[in-house]
Amino acid sequence: MKTTKSFLKMKRDGEKISMVTAYDYPSAVICEKAGMDLILVGDSLGMVVLGYESTIPVTLEDMIHHTKAVKRGAADTFIVTDMPFMTYHGSIDVTLNNARRMMQESGASAVKLEGGKQVISTIETLTNAGVPVMGHLGLTPQMVGVMGGYSVQAKEEEEANRLLEECLLLEKSGAFAIVLECVPQQLAEIASKKLTIPVIGIGAGKHTDGQVLVYHDMIGYGFHHIPKFVKSYGNVKDMLVAGLQKYKEDVQQMKFPEEEHSFNMKTETIDRLYG
Ligand code: KIV
Ligand code: NA
Repeated sequence: MKTTKSFLKMKRDGEKISMVTAYDYPSAVICEKAGMDLILVGDSLGMVVLGYESTIPVTLEDMIHHTKAVKRGAADTFIVTDMPFMTYHGSIDVTLNNARRMMQESGASAVKLEGGKQVISTIETLTNAGVPVMGHLGLTPQMVGVMGGYSVQAKEEEEANRLLEECLLLEKSGAFAIVLECVPQQLAEIASKKLTIPVIGIGAGKHTDGQVLVYHDMIGYGFHHIPKFVKSYGNVKDMLVAGLQKYKEDVQQMKFPEEEHSFNMKTETIDRLYG
């Protein structure tokens, strides 16, 4: 299995890192089969597989439940799991206990948490306790209420400088990698060059050290808003609808099940049953 060290080495060697989200056993099996470098059990599961409007309703229990399933499907892949909304902003004891549960109960290899300055000491404490932490800057969906929506971040110089400063602070506090979401590609490139740790982009252009996408979005299996930065690599949704429609048609026309799907009994037994 890859480790935090492997990702540093990949960055040094100029080898790009591929990460994708997974939320359950089958998606995890697929991710591992496809050779993903890391799997992210994102709190995007709130929208993607639970049908919520945002990541805000996602609980620690939800994350543990889904991460356990992902771990069963991808035992040999480095799994990062999101600390959900407000599980790392209270007292440090509560934060530590929440992170302990995420690691011990779910089998995750690391946790991810959103934010800059306000989570620096948290990242330091978690790292010192043995919890590898991935940072997340730029568009941070758990702040949707405060930000008043989802939009491209740090387009102007002042905010861009602040973001670069926070990237460096995260690195200094012990984060082993940073997700940079929905920022101008030029800024993501500068951040990737300034940092020693890998920068994994989503909606951040091609010059980051790696990319992350939401599984359902990229394979055409998502039913929520699909952002502009997603590239489509399949159309699972249409395949599924077509398959199920064909099944209904077969049932109605008695084309399913066929002999090969059915079980038989001995003729004598049948005769006796008919009496
Ligand atoms: O929850 C998620 O899927 C994420 C990625 C978009 C980085 O945090
Ligand atoms: Na997330």
